[in-house]
Order: sequence, then C-alpha cells, then structure tokens
Amino acid sequence: MNHFSFKLPTTIEDHKFLVNLHNDPLVLKNITNPKPITLADHQDWWMHIVANQHIQQRFMFLIDSVPAGFVKFYDIDQTNKNCVLGADLHKDFRGRGFAKFMWKMMLEHCFSEEKLNLHRVSLTTASFNTVAQKVYFNLGFIEEGRKVDSLFRDNVFYDEICLYILKEKWENESRTNA
Ligand SMILES: CC(C)(COP(=O)(O)OP(=O)(O)OC[C@H]1O[C@@H](n2cnc3c(N)ncnc32)[C@H](O)[C@@H]1OP(=O)(O)O)[C@@H](O)C(=O)NCCC(=O)NCCS
Repeated sequence: MNHFSFKLPTTIEDHKFLVNLHNDPLVLKNITNPKPITLADHQDWWMHIVANQHIQQRFMFLIDSVPAGFVKFYDIDQTNKNCVLGADLHKDFRGRGFAKFMWKMMLEHCFSEEKLNLHRVSLTTASFNTVAQKVYFNLGFIEEGRKVDSLFRDNVFYDEICLYILKEKWENESRTNA
C-alpha cells in the first residue's frame, strides 16, 4: 500500500525537481506557454506564489515520501466557492495508476470543510490529451464547453476542453466508488 501526501517545496532539490518536471516535453506540450524555464525563472515565480497563498496553492505530490508530481489550485475564489485545478506526474511515475490517487487527494483538499471548502472546481485539458481526459472523466468531471483552437502546437490548432465537478457530485462518486 503506497502512502500519498502533499508537501510545500522547501529545498533547492525540491525546486530542481519542479523545474525538471515543468520542462518535460509532455508537460510543456500541455500548457499554454510551452517554453522551457530556468531554475532562476522558477524561483522568481515561486516568490510570487508564496506571497499569494490565499488565491493559489501549489504542492509537490509525494508517493512514499518521494517527489512524484506537482498539484496546482489556482484562482481560488472563496466568495463564489470555486477554483481551477491542474496537476502533472513525473514521467517515472506515469502509467502506474497513481493519477487517480493524486486527483482524489486534490478533490478532498478542495471540498473538505476543514480545507478549502469549495462548491465547484474546474480545469482545462488539451483535446489531444486522451490519458488525462480518462483520469478526469473516471473521477466524474463533466465537459461544459471548449476553448476552440486555443492551443497552437506543431503548426496545428487544438481545442482546450473545459471540465468541472461540483462537491455534491464528487461526494456521490466517492460513495459509489468506496
Ligand atoms: C495526465 C497524467 C497525470 C496521467 O497520469 P498517468 O499515470 O499517465 O495515467 P494512468 O496511467 O493512471 O492512466 C490514466 C487512464 O488512462 C488510460 N490510458 C493510459 N494510456 C492510454 C492511452 N494511450 N490511450 C487511452 N487511455 C490510456 C489508463 O488505462 C487509465 O484509465 P483507467 O484508470 O480507466 O484504466 C500524466 O500522464 C501526466 O502528468 N502527463 C504529462 C502532463 C499532462 O498531461 N498533464 C495534464 C494536463 S491536463
């Protein structure tokens, strides 16, 4: 049985792990700005994140205390009780069924009354990212629209698919899958 946890990056090794993950070709292909970053870029950006914890939170995802991914909660809106999510797994941990555990912890973090206590979460995913879509639909996310031709990759325009899930649906899904 694996142990899963979230951790704030603190050491230089943590930040190197995050830069390495960000610069992974598959991660870059799936984000709006596909340019690689340097450790200095990342550290400047991280100062901004730390100063704005009320509107965005980002943690490393650990499997048995080993860094395995990065989870992102942004545009946290406590007035309207929603936020936007994103997450990536390091290539060494992909294809082993860990994504659903990472995402279940993220949804727990969003909907738990002791944590963010939100009503709705959403995300966008590239239309070509069939593996990520499988993860999201399996968890109960629902498509609510598309940002048509909003990603330009290798001279081709792709849609981003907009997905959401409400707390009530997540609780029902959790009961069904318990
Ligand atoms: C998206 C990501 C987190 C998914 O994690 P993963 O470990 O690769 O996913 P899994 O191995 O758990 O597979 C997820 C599902 O896709 C299925 N799948 C795997 N490869 C597939 C393929 N080539 N075609 C279709 N389905 C596939 C799996 O069978 C599984 O479905 P199941 O649970 O119903 O069996 C991970 O691939 C990742 O970080 N990728 C790089 C960046 C990225 O895409 N981030 C998300 C941006 S929205």
